[in-house]
Amino acid sequence: MALFKIILYILSCLSLFILSFQAPLQNQSHFFTLMKTSLSGNSISKWSTLTEGDQYCNYPGIACDNDGYVVEIDLSAWSVLGRIPNDICSYVQKLRVLRLGHNDLRGGFPTGVFNCSFLEELNLSTSNLAGNLPNFSQMKSLRVLDLSNNQFSGEFPISVTNVTSLEVLNFNENSGFSMWQLPYEVTQLKNLRSLFLMTCSLHGQIPPWIGNMTSLVDLELSGNSLDGPIPVELGELRNLQLLELYYNQLTGEIPEELGNLTQMFDLDISVNRLTGKIPVSICELPKLRFLQLYNNSLTGEIPLAIGNSTSLHILSVYENFLMGELPPNIGKFTELVGLDVSENHLSGELPKEVCKNGKLFYFLVLDNQFSGGLPENYAKCESLLRFRVSYNHLSGPIPEGLLGLPHASIIDLSYNLFDGMLPKSIGNARNLSELYIQTNRISGSLPSEISQAANLVKIDLSKNLLSGPIPPEIGNLRKLNLLLLQGNKLVSSIPESLSSLKSLNLLNLSNNLLTGNIPESLCELLPNSLDFSNNRLSGPVPLPLIKEGLAESFSGNPKLCAPVYFNSSIPSLPLCLRPNTRKRLNTIWVIATTVLVVIVGFLLFLKRWYGRERLVIEQNGFSSTSFSYEMTSFRRLSFDQDEIMKALIDKNIVGYGGSGTVYKIELRNGQSFAVKKLWAGKTKDPSSDQLLLDRELKAEVDTLGKIRHKNIVKLYCCFSNWDSNLLVYEYMSNGNLWDMLHRGKVLLDWPTRHTIAVGIAQGLAYLHHDLLPPIIHRDVKSTNILLNADFLPKVADFGIAKVLHSKGKDSTTTAVAGTYGYLAPEYAYSSKATVKCDVYSFGVVLMELITGKRPIEQEFGENRNIIFWVAQKVLTKEGIMEVLDERLSGSFKDEMIQVLRIAIRCTCSVPALRPTMNEVVQLLMDADPCRFDAFKRWDKLKEESSPTMKA
Ligand SMILES: *[C@@H]1O[C@H](CO)[C@@H](O)[C@H](O)[C@H]1NC(C)=O
Ligand SMILES: *[C@@H]1O[C@H](CO)[C@@H](O)[C@H](O)[C@H]1NC(C)=O
Ligand SMILES: *[C@@H]1O[C@H](CO)[C@@H](O)[C@H](O)[C@H]1NC(C)=O
Ligand SMILES: *[C@@H]1O[C@H](CO)[C@@H](O)[C@H](O)[C@H]1NC(C)=O
Ligand SMILES: *[C@@H]1O[C@H](CO)[C@@H](O)[C@H](O)[C@H]1NC(C)=O
Repeated sequence: MALFKIILYILSCLSLFILSFQAPLQNQSHFFTLMKTSLSGNSISKWSTLTEGDQYCNYPGIACDNDGYVVEIDLSAWSVLGRIPNDICSYVQKLRVLRLGHNDLRGGFPTGVFNCSFLEELNLSTSNLAGNLPNFSQMKSLRVLDLSNNQFSGEFPISVTNVTSLEVLNFNENSGFSMWQLPYEVTQLKNLRSLFLMTCSLHGQIPPWIGNMTSLVDLELSGNSLDGPIPVELGELRNLQLLELYYNQLTGEIPEELGNLTQMFDLDISVNRLTGKIPVSICELPKLRFLQLYNNSLTGEIPLAIGNSTSLHILSVYENFLMGELPPNIGKFTELVGLDVSENHLSGELPKEVCKNGKLFYFLVLDNQFSGGLPENYAKCESLLRFRVSYNHLSGPIPEGLLGLPHASIIDLSYNLFDGMLPKSIGNARNLSELYIQTNRISGSLPSEISQAANLVKIDLSKNLLSGPIPPEIGNLRKLNLLLLQGNKLVSSIPESLSSLKSLNLLNLSNNLLTGNIPESLCELLPNSLDFSNNRLSGPVPLPLIKEGLAESFSGNPKLCAPVYFNSSIPSLPLCLRPNTRKRLNTIWVIATTVLVVIVGFLLFLKRWYGRERLVIEQNGFSSTSFSYEMTSFRRLSFDQDEIMKALIDKNIVGYGGSGTVYKIELRNGQSFAVKKLWAGKTKDPSSDQLLLDRELKAEVDTLGKIRHKNIVKLYCCFSNWDSNLLVYEYMSNGNLWDMLHRGKVLLDWPTRHTIAVGIAQGLAYLHHDLLPPIIHRDVKSTNILLNADFLPKVADFGIAKVLHSKGKDSTTTAVAGTYGYLAPEYAYSSKATVKCDVYSFGVVLMELITGKRPIEQEFGENRNIIFWVAQKVLTKEGIMEVLDERLSGSFKDEMIQVLRIAIRCTCSVPALRPTMNEVVQLLMDADPCRFDAFKRWDKLKEESSPTMKA
């Protein structure tokens, strides 16, 4: 009996042991089945096929302990899609590390992970998670919590301050939190090394007690609404290596106590409102690599001590009020990579040793008062990518070799006093894409060697003293997009070879001494802007050039003529005739013109005499309309209403908009206008509905008429009667953005598209933020973005839509204002338009600019739009590249991706998470492909060379 009991006991112990050992392992294999049913992605599907049986410890991304328990799951950037199963912890109780970042995890925070009581590291960054966050207090063993780059919202989870084991806390880029201030409880985190709270809706001041968190190594508070001074107590964080406070509203001076942070590696307080001087103490920090203080109001000199630095890689202090000289030793003892001191009041000579250690990529000193010559040794700085010294008082010759630097992509010497000749070494410039030397005193001839710099896209040598011919070899520069040579003393003829510049978009040869004919072959190019004016050209102007409306481009060439007669559009060009008849005709012309001028003058005088400011104009004598129009005008009008009315004939129709017919009207004085005749669906009883419409329209038009902004189409006046409404706008010769992107024969390059994006954003930002009450456009789309001759975008057709749609008068689009493909999702449910609806639609336009695709395309699949398509693509690196318009050469990929990110934020389904238009403008400016500061590049440089990467 006793023995039996003992045996039974042993048996039960054994079985218990076996059970307790096997059950969880059994559980674990369930776990993988569960994961595979909840999540999808190529790598996950490999789990079953990769190994035999239950050898999941060998699965990629999985690590077990010696007993076979899963302790680590790392699926970072596996293109996983789906929801994390909520009960994973009941299968893998011993889990210590869970990394699921850079995937597309749907839904909210997976609260199930709280049951993994051993969890030490949780990384869910960049995973599309949204919603409120739970209380973290019970995560007792968590050391690393990374939820960065998601769309979490609601209250910031202050409860993390109870997780005293935390060493790394990363909430970067979760802009949906409601505004919060750093709570004192944060100081409970005695082990915290990294506190990342970038773009997290923080406001208020940086509390002085932060100086007590002496375990901190990285402190990142950028992109918030922090104000007040930088507390001197920060100087007590003796372990600090990285301090990022940029993009806030910090005021006061930079505390010299920061000079006590002897471990400091990266200090960035750019884009704030700091005043005072740059403390000498921070320039003496022994390990400082990155010092960025740009866009503040700093004064005084750049401390000489920075010239002694042996660690500095980047100094970026542009857009301040700094004065005095640059420390002459700067770069002498250190591997300087970037120097940007642009837009200050710095003077004196340029530092000679800046490239001493051969690592300099960026030398940017634009817009200062530097004088003297360019040091000869700059020409040996082979590492340079960008060299920009424009808008200074620099003089002397261009050092031989400078223009031929092997890696340089932009060389900008414009707006200085440089003289001498253009060095022939330009022929060695293998990577040069932009060369700006305009407005200097460069003489001699344009070296034919320039044709060997085969990557040149832009050349501006205008307003110099260049003489000699235009070298025909220039036709070899197949990528050339812009060639500006105006205002020189170039002689001889225009080379035929220019016609091989198939990408040429802007060509200006005006104000030179060019002779001979305009080559017929140039017609193959038809750039957007062409200027041959004020030369000594002769002979007939090729017909297609005139037809393209480029007539003004030929003025000031008395011997040029038009091969056939054009009604009135080219006043400056006489008809090509045989010499004797020309003379006679000329006399007749002069007489006729004189008579005409006298008559017109007399009529104008009469008209003024009788006064023309009558509000109600009787349109007698016109067959087209015989009703009285009421006119509301917003600008000084240089035209006569009668002329407008007369021109409303079918021949002048240029399009049918959603709400009316558009006419292009060219007036006798050469001015062009677009007139939109709104369809007013005649009602039987003109007294009721229709009048109400008119009143509303008028109120709207009144507001619009008062708007003055460079990115909003000018409305000159409005005529209305019971029958129709006519709106007179400025004429935009390049049509709308839709046609340009999706139908145009002109391929817009990325810098142009970026400029267009910024322009639209500025226009909308003005409507949203600078007007009271704000105006909501309601129908932002690429057909409503018009482009003028210089491709400056202007927003058109706003507000009007609302009035028309609210009255149901418009049958061509849906009942709600807005256009399918551009419509914010929330607008479909409640027809209440908000500014965030416009932001969404703008995001769609941005995507059109980036991808070159329409908002709805067959290839996106049924019921799928561009937003869905982009969201799918950006999950993988290759996908991102496929999103970018393949027609573009690909030279601005980084910048395009940066703008893509903005577009994705704008089209976020949660309105509150979309940025405001003001923010969008700022973000877009930061992504400027042509801006010398290249803020983003700094970040990239940092990432490459710094061990403490920006998360
Ligand atoms: C996994 O095993 C444990 C312990 O053996 C058990 O308590 C738990 O209920 C199991 N979980 C599931 C989901 O089967
Ligand atoms: C932190 O923990 C304490 C004690 O468990 C609790 O009373 C408090 O509410 C927690 N704080 C937060 C913010 O959750
Ligand atoms: C910070 O720490 C010091 C001592 O190290 C202490 O005297 C002071 O009270 C602390 N400040 C706060 C606000 O906790
Ligand atoms: C910190 O810096 C300030 C001014 O630069 C100095 O007065 C102070 O003594 C320093 N503190 C420590 C602890 O080194
Ligand atoms: C730079 O270093 C030298 C040598 O150590 C020293 O004499 C000089 O004072 C330093 N200059 C500045 C401005 O700190």
